[in-house]
Formats: sequence, C-alpha cells, structure tokens
Amino acid sequence: MARAVALQCTRCAARYPADHYAEDCPACRTVARSNLTVVYEDGLRSTRPKPGVDAGRGLWRYGDLLPVTRAEAVSLDEGSTPLHHLGGAGGLLGMPRVFGKDESRNPTWSFKDRLACLAVSAAKKMGAEVIVSSSSGNAGAAAAAYAAKAGLPCVIFTFKGTAGAMVTQMRAYGAKVVAVENKPDRWTLMEMAVRQYGWFPTSPFFGPVVGSNPYGIEGYKTLAYEIVEQLDWQVPDWCVLPVCYGDALVGMWKGFEDMMAFGWTDRMPRMVAAEVYGSLGSALASGADALPDMPKTVDTVAVSIGATRGTYQAVNILRRSGGTAVTVGNDDMLRWQQQLAAKDGLYVEATSAASVVAVEHLRGTGTIAKNDTVAVLLTAGGLKDPDVTARVQPESLVLPPDIGKAVSLLKAEGLFPNR
Ligand SMILES: Cc1ncc(COP(=O)(O)O)c(C=O)c1O
Ligand SMILES: [Zn+2]
Repeated sequence: MARAVALQCTRCAARYPADHYAEDCPACRTVARSNLTVVYEDGLRSTRPKPGVDAGRGLWRYGDLLPVTRAEAVSLDEGSTPLHHLGGAGGLLGMPRVFGKDESRNPTWSFKDRLACLAVSAAKKMGAEVIVSSSSGNAGAAAAAYAAKAGLPCVIFTFKGTAGAMVTQMRAYGAKVVAVENKPDRWTLMEMAVRQYGWFPTSPFFGPVVGSNPYGIEGYKTLAYEIVEQLDWQVPDWCVLPVCYGDALVGMWKGFEDMMAFGWTDRMPRMVAAEVYGSLGSALASGADALPDMPKTVDTVAVSIGATRGTYQAVNILRRSGGTAVTVGNDDMLRWQQQLAAKDGLYVEATSAASVVAVEHLRGTGTIAKNDTVAVLLTAGGLKDPDVTARVQPESLVLPPDIGKAVSLLKAEGLFPNR
C-alpha cells in the first residue's frame, strides 16, 4: 500500500488534506473548476512484476501503488482484463498493432469497477455510512455492487426517463435509485447529501462537474500498468478512450507517469478522447481552461458519455500528452459496434466503440501512422444497452410451424443449400 498524504489540485498544485475528498480546488474557482488528485508520502515505489513470479492478479497485482491495502479493500476481483489484438491477420484498418482492452470482463461488466473498488474502499476506511452516486449507468451499477459488498447503503441519483438494463442492475444490488425530473436538481440534492449528511460520493456531486472521487480515480492507474505489462513492457504510441469527465484518462496518465518514474518504461503515450459534443476539442482549440457547455445537437447512442461539458482534468491531460479529442457520431459508433462484434467477437457498449471511431478518423488524417501501436479502451459490454444495437438490426427470420415450409424458406434465404 502507498500512504496518501494530501490531495493536490490538478491545475495549480495547491495541497489540501487527504480527507478533503469531496471538494474541488477553491483557489482555482474564479478561472476554472478543477479536480484534486492523490499524492503519496515520499512519492511511490514498486518493483515490476516478473514473469513466472506470482505477483497476484487484479488491482492488487500493483497494490504497492494504491492507497488501500488488499486486506482493507472492498474487492470483487476486478482488473486483469484481457488485451485483444484487433482486426485479425490484416489488422484493424490495415494497422497491425491495434489492441482492445476488454473492460466488460470486470465484475459489473465495465471499467467503472476499478473506480468503485478504490472509492468504496476509501469510504469504508474513512467510516462513511452511505455511498452516493449520480449516474444513469455504469458508474452507478459499480457503486451499488461495491456498496453491497461493503455492507453500506447506496443511493443513486438519476434522471426521469432513464431506463434499461443498468437501472435494473443498480436495483438488483440493493441500491435506492431515485430519478429527478429536472436534471440539474441531482447536483443540488447530492451536494446537500454530501455536505450536510456526510454521504460519501463516488461520482461527481456538484456542477459544473470537475471529475469523480480522487481515490476512485487512483483505481484507473492499473489500466496503464496492465496494458504496458500485456505489451511486454512497451508503451503504446496512442491510448484512445471514450471520455465523459475524464476520470479514466487522468488515472491512466498517472499510471504511465509512475512507470516512467520507476524506470519501468522510457516514454509516455499520446492520449486521445472520443467525445460526443466536442467540448474538449473546443477547449483544445481555444486554449481555455474553463470548459464550454456545448449545445445538445444530437440524441446520442453513447449515453454513457453524453455530457455536453468536459472537464479541466481531461483537457489538461490531452494537452500534456500531445493528444487530441475526436467528436464521434451515432452511425459510426453503431457501425464499429457491429464490426467489433462480428469480426473480433467483442460485443461492446456503443459508447466503447467510440474509441475505434476516433482511431479510424485519426488514421484517415494521417495523425496515427500505419505501424503505430494503439491501445483502445473498450469500457463496457454491449448488454449494458442492447436497445441501441437492436434498433439497427434487421428482423430475425421467423419460421412457420410446418417443417417443409420452414425448409423452403431457409433455402430461399440462402441459409440451407438449394438441393
Ligand atoms: C461505458 C463508458 N465509457 C466511458 C465513460 C467515460 O468515463 P470517464 O468519466 O472516465 O471519462 C463512461 C462513464 O461515464 C462509461 O460508462
Ligand atoms: Zn487549484
């Protein structure tokens, strides 16, 4: 375990006490609201796991670099997800080295388990009595599962009209799911729950959003450690991920920084955000630290990253890494969702396919070179939101109850040979 000694502003580096987890940086507020990040006593130290030596699996394979011990952690055996080579023999889009990190293989079927594991573990350690999250999707499902494991009550604020598999999933874990009619009301209520009643937020809890709980974000460092180990300690040229508030983007970057500091690796990747409404792209172009709230121009199939405003913590990493942001549309996400499933056997949430859309775009502009090594984060599985996929699928063939007629139909459709 690493001992957290403070929380530091991601923008001005001002330091706050380590239990200041539920605030942004007051010193930055007049310019741009910014999230805090965990800093450790005397920096971090660790040794690289060696082949053949059992260093354990999941997040605690890198337990030296996390702020809770394995024994005090609330864990469901998250992490150690596969990194698949994509595109078969010809590669993806003719690129031989594109790899997909399949985060649907986590306990609640998304990457948010890495965040929920660390955030709920921190909550338990700090003596929190209630876990609270604002989410209509994966973050809420993960918070609910880890709260259940911790034996803590969990309340999820969502909004009216949210439906589907993920709400059912949250409820199954025993969370109280409450929907507000007016979307911004969730921030007012959550802020009250956190500040007045001491509930522990795993997600953002006020607007404009700065990002999620800093302890939770530490869990995402393991994405970087795992990808690099899976690539035989090579750093990819590009890491591409669907981004909403940028928690995973920030966490991964910290993980890459750690490995450079330890001498495990000798360079950093460029980070790419796939987004829906272009807030990060707009801030990159203008140089602003305060993120613009963009017009909601389309009804996106990538509901999980459907926020119209990005965060400072995310744009900061895109700038520092020499990366970029790509705005992605519904048709492209659904096309890649279908293609990854049909060609690579990976049925991912439409949101996750956004990473591949961004790779296609950047390959098209020549930004990503043919032989670059690219790691794309496939953040969640397709069964989280199957309705958007079903909408574009053709009707299934329904066979009549007469076998003779059924066979004729199968022949007419070319499924049975015509003999
Ligand atoms: C499937 C999926 N992908 C990506 C994201 C974006 O996450 P982040 O806030 O870490 O940018 C989310 C959640 O918001 C998500 O549910
Ligand atoms: Zn600051």
